[in-house]
Amino acid sequence: MTSPRRTALLAEMGLAPVWRRRAAAAGRGAGDAADDTVIAAEPVAASERAVAAGRTEAAAGRARAPAQGAIADGRASMVDPARAARIAALDWEALREDVGACTACSLCRTRKQTVFGTGVQEASWMIVGEAPGAEEDARGEPFVGQAGRLLDNMLAAIGRSRGADVYIANVLKCRPPGNRNPEPLEVAQCSPYMVRQIELARPRLLVAMGRFAAQTLLGTDASIAALRGRVHRYHGVPCVVTYHPAYLLRNLADKARAWEDLCFARGVARDLESGAVRPS
Ligand code: URA
Repeated sequence: MTSPRRTALLAEMGLAPVWRRRAAAAGRGAGDAADDTVIAAEPVAASERAVAAGRTEAAAGRARAPAQGAIADGRASMVDPARAARIAALDWEALREDVGACTACSLCRTRKQTVFGTGVQEASWMIVGEAPGAEEDARGEPFVGQAGRLLDNMLAAIGRSRGADVYIANVLKCRPPGNRNPEPLEVAQCSPYMVRQIELARPRLLVAMGRFAAQTLLGTDASIAALRGRVHRYHGVPCVVTYHPAYLLRNLADKARAWEDLCFARGVARDLESGAVRPS
C-alpha cells in the first residue's frame, strides 16, 4: 500500500504518531529533530523479537502442549454429541442454513437474524470475534459497526481485506441482548458452528480478537495480555491473539498494542510462507 494511504489509515486508527524513526547515529544535534518524521508506523521487528525471546513457539521449536480449544474442555459436555457430529459433517451451504434455523439457545428469541460469517471462504486468514452487535444483528454480517470499521482499517493497513483474503466469523452467531457477554451455555451450543467454519475455511492463520474468541479457541482462562505476542495452535492451525476492536474503541492506549499484534500476525504469515513456521 502506498505510504500516504497507509499513513491516513494509521492516522484514522490513532496510530500514526506512535512509531518514529530514531536518530541512527550517536551525537545527533538538536537540529535533527526535524527528521523525526513518521516513516514506519509499525513495529516491524515484532515477529523477530518474539522469536528471539522464544515466544514464537512453533518457529523456535519450543511449542507448548497444543491448546485444543474450549470444545475439548468441560463445556463440551453441554453440547449434544449427536448435534455436534451432525454439524461437523455440513458443507458451507448447509452450515449457513443450519445456523439460520438454530434454536439451540435462548438467543434465537431475541435476534433479528443470525450472523453467519463473511469474506473469502478459503481465505488464508480467519478472524474470530465474539458476537454480533446491534448493527450486525440488523444487517446479518459480522463487524459492520464502528468496531468493524476499525477492523477494516487495521486490515487495510497491513494490506488485507475481508473481500480479498480474510474470512470473518464470531464465536456466537446471534446477538446477546444489550451486547452483554456471551454465557457459557451459549458459547458451548454455538461453538460447533465456529469449529466447522474453521474446518471448511482451512485458514493458514487464525486471529482471535478479544477474550471470548481467544479463550474459546484455546481452551484457556488466560487474559489477552497473557496470550498476545506468541503463536498458539488451534488443532494445529497457528493462532495469534489480540484485543477486540470494540475494546480498542474504549481503550485508545491499547491500539498501539493491537497494531503490534497485527504486524506480528503478518510476520507469522510470512514465516508460514517461508517455512519457518510449519502449517497445520
Ligand atoms: N463484535 C464482534 O465480536 N463481532 C461483531 O461482528 C461485531 C462486534
